Amino acid sequence: MAEISGTSVDKVEQPIECAARRYLYVWEGPVRIIHWLNFFCIIILSFTGYFIHDPFMSSAQHPYIMGHMRHIHYVTGVVFSVSILARLYWFLGDSYFASWRAIPNPFDKNNRKTFWAYIRFYTFLGKETPHLLGHNPVAFCAYTLLFLLFFLQILTGFALWAQADPYSSLYAVTGWIFGLVSNQWVRWFHFMVMFLIAGFVINHIYSIVLFDFKSKSGEISSIFSGWKPDRRD
Ligand code: HEM
Repeated sequence: MAEISGTSVDKVEQPIECAARRYLYVWEGPVRIIHWLNFFCIIILSFTGYFIHDPFMSSAQHPYIMGHMRHIHYVTGVVFSVSILARLYWFLGDSYFASWRAIPNPFDKNNRKTFWAYIRFYTFLGKETPHLLGHNPVAFCAYTLLFLLFFLQILTGFALWAQADPYSSLYAVTGWIFGLVSNQWVRWFHFMVMFLIAGFVINHIYSIVLFDFKSKSGEISSIFSGWKPDRRD
């Protein structure tokens, strides 16, 4: 009889049956890199942005602290914008799960059924959700809104920055916004969107942990490794 470190195999606890048929590579390298780049950019931009709004360290004790915070905010803002552009490029590309090909079709009966099953699950009205490999349709709607917020945050951020030089090309591209609303309004909007993004981050972490437990399909590890078990029926 085979032995594992002196223990007979018969005595080793049998694993609970796993419904996975195979593993699939769902999130490609660039998707994972962009995800984590966005994550760190959002943390840095929120911290430095909050400081710009309400400086909680005095420049008497920390000389040029506001200058440093603004510098970090602007550089990270540029990195974040490039990262969002890269994600949009990938969205238009050849991948399946991370591209437009995986957009749920509202005219398809099965897609609508899946959407309502997830809505019932999120609102504690139902327990069953079909097992999916990519984004579920409700998450897909949330990500669409999130990217709209990113776009507005990038637009207002660059418009605020462009005010430093109203003769710059940046002002030529973004300055029209001050013809519609005042610059204090743009500042307020940019500040408020930070809280909406923070709300998404909290909900995102909650949902991902919930589904990692529920679906037993490595939701969390997949954003590190890219792989997910295929448990679809
Ligand atoms: C997740 C994304 C971002 C968050 C959470 C964020 C947050 C903030 C916050 C809270 C402020 C302070 C607003 C106020 O004055 O009350 C701010 C200011 C500012 N942000 Fe952002 N921001 C983001 C992205 C960007 C981007 C992409 C840029 C473009 C480079 C940018 C450029 C600016 C500028 C120029 C200011 C004004 C700074 C000043 O008055 O010196 N931000 N940001």
